[in-house]
Amino acid sequence: MKKRYRVIDTTDSHEQKMDNPYDRIPYLGRSHQQTHIEKIACIPFLFDIPFPDVHHARVLELGCGDGSNILNMAYSLPNATFVGIDGSEVQITRGQESISITGISNLELFHCDLLDVDSSFGTFDYIICHGVYSWVPSHVRKTILQICSQRLSTNGIAYISYNALPGWRMYSMVREMMRYHVRHIREDHKKTEQSIAMLQFVGQHLVDPVDSYGAFIRETMEHLSHSTSEYIFHEYLEENNQAFYFHEFIDSLEEHNLQYLGNTDFNTMNNLHFPEETQNILDEISNNIHNLEQYMDFLRCRRFRCDLLTHNNRELAREVTLNPFTKGYFTLSAFHAQDENLTPKDIFEDILENIFIESQQKALKDIPIFAHTIQSLFEHWPQYVHFDDICSYVQNRTMDFSQGDKVEIAALLQTLLLRNTIDLHLFQPKIATEVSHRPCASLVARAQIRYQFSISNQHHTMVALKDIWMRKILPYIDGKHTFEELFSIMQGFVHEDPSLHEQEASFHKAKLREFLSILLQKGVLVS
Ligand SMILES: C[S@@+](CC[C@H](N)C(=O)[O-])C[C@H]1O[C@@H](n2cnc3c(N)ncnc32)[C@H](O)[C@@H]1O
Repeated sequence: MKKRYRVIDTTDSHEQKMDNPYDRIPYLGRSHQQTHIEKIACIPFLFDIPFPDVHHARVLELGCGDGSNILNMAYSLPNATFVGIDGSEVQITRGQESISITGISNLELFHCDLLDVDSSFGTFDYIICHGVYSWVPSHVRKTILQICSQRLSTNGIAYISYNALPGWRMYSMVREMMRYHVRHIREDHKKTEQSIAMLQFVGQHLVDPVDSYGAFIRETMEHLSHSTSEYIFHEYLEENNQAFYFHEFIDSLEEHNLQYLGNTDFNTMNNLHFPEETQNILDEISNNIHNLEQYMDFLRCRRFRCDLLTHNNRELAREVTLNPFTKGYFTLSAFHAQDENLTPKDIFEDILENIFIESQQKALKDIPIFAHTIQSLFEHWPQYVHFDDICSYVQNRTMDFSQGDKVEIAALLQTLLLRNTIDLHLFQPKIATEVSHRPCASLVARAQIRYQFSISNQHHTMVALKDIWMRKILPYIDGKHTFEELFSIMQGFVHEDPSLHEQEASFHKAKLREFLSILLQKGVLVS
């Protein structure tokens, strides 16, 4: 790429450079599953609308932080090319270090203001802008839409996430109280600490702890207790955090010749989750998808949206036929698959109970293809399973399997997807199906563990490694060491680091075996 954009003045004094809050308090890099271009492409795939081939796509991420999100994508799609820009020099430098450590060559990161993205960047098939739109001033928001309009290829798709109303309104109340309390504090960490302390004070001294206000404050305290301090600082204490109603966001697209394509969370685009009476009223009062989604946001009290946009000169139809289901890859949703205590029978019964009405449940219990479909997804986890492989699995276990049964399986997968029980995918990432003689963890995960406890997996989600031994051994699970060699490396840690002596008792061969099996189950090991 020709670098003709204006770079941020790096001759600023240290204090001035550190004026960027993301330089002072960097965001921890994460993989956001819904931003993976194969997840984005699932929406036009389901609607049977042309979309750029993910394997050879050109991708831009605006406000990419330290680039962790696209680094993991670049690793999974080696023939696609990725560009990330961010205004924080500290984060971009960290990302560039990860690029040089991993040697991943289809990704470039630039320290650059998104206001400076111009035609020298070329066009992109996918533009990702996650966690930025609500958090910047209005002229920058306009520029984001302008970039999507000017830099998207003909069938290109942009992803923009933002805090949504009405749900975020309640959280902005908490944000206002926190900001009020820390308004005279200058030091960032003290600000974060004090803002949490103030919320705890409110929570502990509520006039009526059981009214709706009390319940909300307690729920928010619980939510924040699981959040990192940099998230709390940037989400609750920074100057910009503007939430929007879906209809406001849609209105802002028109002047940029963009239109709404869909939401990455496909099941939220339909009203099947609601009781029949609600569905009927929603259908009556909504004459198009925009109205329907807005009313559903009211009912769900939605607080965050991940919307997809495309050029508005394209004809869009949003009908979903069974055809795409015969071409996709599938996994059980993580909730079901990651609970190791569940058996396929438990999952089957849980799905029956939660999705189908009683009369359907009885009928489906007698149809073996249904149970076998679930079983095949369960057994293949963490692999993505192609429709044809599901059919072969079911066929091998069912008498008189016919073409009609394939249609039944496609229809079942459609129902399960609409009810958020399975995930659809468009490709097969490199995921190990067993712990091999020389196990290999993803290159990106091995680089990430240098500076954080959570690592990206091949599903493009995060895995927290709480155990110190696990974090220390991960870089060595590189496809070059056998189990015995890994074990002796672990023994070496104890000799090198006296602080580990106390924990030595918690370290033995069975533990290493368990680590490897966790890494396998969580989709961190690659084939
Ligand atoms: C909340 S963080 C989100 C980071 C990342 N996308 C994620 O979701 O993990 C917002 C990011 O936008 C970047 N940003 C904000 N304004 C920007 C601008 N005008 N130009 C470039 N980057 C900007 C910040 O530096 C920060 O890294």
